[in-house]
Amino acid sequence: MSEQIIAIGLEGIVVAETDLSLVDGINGHLVYRNHWARDLAIHHTFEEVAHLLWYGALPNKEQLRDLEEKLIAERELPAHVKTAIDCIPHDIDMMSVLRSGVSLLGLTGNDWPPTIEQVISLTAKMPSIVAYRAARLAGREPLVPHKELRHTANYLYMLTGKEPSHAHVRALDAYLILTQEHGMNASTFAARVVSSTRSDLISAITAAIGALKGPLHGGAPSEVTEMVEAIGTKENAEPWLRRALENGERLMGFGHRVYKTTDPRAAALRVVASELSKDDPWFDLATHIEQVALRLLEEYKPGRKLNTNVEFFAAAVMRAVGLPDSLFTPTFAISRVVGWSAHVLEQAANNRIIRPQSNYTGVMPE
Ligand SMILES: CC(C)(COP(=O)(O)OP(=O)(O)OC[C@H]1O[C@@H](n2cnc3c(N)ncnc32)[C@H](O)[C@@H]1OP(=O)(O)O)[C@@H](O)C(=O)NCCC(=O)NCCS
Repeated sequence: MSEQIIAIGLEGIVVAETDLSLVDGINGHLVYRNHWARDLAIHHTFEEVAHLLWYGALPNKEQLRDLEEKLIAERELPAHVKTAIDCIPHDIDMMSVLRSGVSLLGLTGNDWPPTIEQVISLTAKMPSIVAYRAARLAGREPLVPHKELRHTANYLYMLTGKEPSHAHVRALDAYLILTQEHGMNASTFAARVVSSTRSDLISAITAAIGALKGPLHGGAPSEVTEMVEAIGTKENAEPWLRRALENGERLMGFGHRVYKTTDPRAAALRVVASELSKDDPWFDLATHIEQVALRLLEEYKPGRKLNTNVEFFAAAVMRAVGLPDSLFTPTFAISRVVGWSAHVLEQAANNRIIRPQSNYTGVMPE
């Protein structure tokens, strides 16, 4: 048999050409279709950037109004989805509820190829699934989606029952924009694999949610806050982190497959979080822990180039706008569905089934 290169974890393997984003891990750049993601997060809204990813360009005023109105019109959940969510035991985690709720949206018929209408409808409904469940868990009557608030503001409104402050909406918008899209990450790849079989959009997104749920991908931010709580004081940071590294544990919120320098999303979110958390002792402790962790990672893992990743400051921003830990990864999914669906549309436009190979290392029959 000829020599084959096995890329464990598919590191360095290019599986698609894409117009959607460039993740430059050497220079620490993130580009969404000819725009710096960082600038989009500062100057634009969730809907504008979704338009850029789905349609190929930032919208003019009319196009923006049209997309905002379509998203508002699609927010309400079908009755069968609400009934099914009500049947899920309360100890089932929110990502599993979201995965199941999204899956049930498929009952209304989603075939291949995926359409932009399906994409908008799904994006509009995902926050409603999370907010509906959160209200039920809190013993509150779930709110009807707001008819005037934009996507991000409506999400916060449905979670809290109050119209959010401008500062909170801007901060969460920045987070949701910076995490909408990120190249061929594990969940996006999962979505593209499923879609490449000509399965429907809902199946592709359900697979992506499953991939995002894992702690090595989207499950990290809630573990960041757990780590900060567990450390508790600045004095305890170094002994706690040393112990973790000596036990071979990974520090959540650090390291990245592609970024070998500062994760540009972490840099941008650091600014957003620090503006919101000026007098917050939690944030002061978290940034102290970050500095100690970076020093110790260099000591224990020299040359691995382990930097702070997006999840560390994602946790800080989501906490600052009042989201509980249990909603961190579901909120990530609510933003990343934009990128997943843009990839699904791109895959469908030039589809070939994704079917790699494996090397058999077992024994041959006699
Ligand atoms: C993101 C991540 C999964 C990338 O994994 P990867 O590209 O496969 O990196 P590897 O597992 O090959 O790690 C390379 C080395 O760095 C170490 N390392 C990587 N991330 C680390 C972390 N967060 N803490 C401690 N050590 C880490 C590994 O143990 C490995 O060490 P070794 O060479 O002694 O075996 C990984 O950095 C990680 O687990 N980070 C923590 C989880 C997290 O924050 N995820 C969110 C990502 S945005």
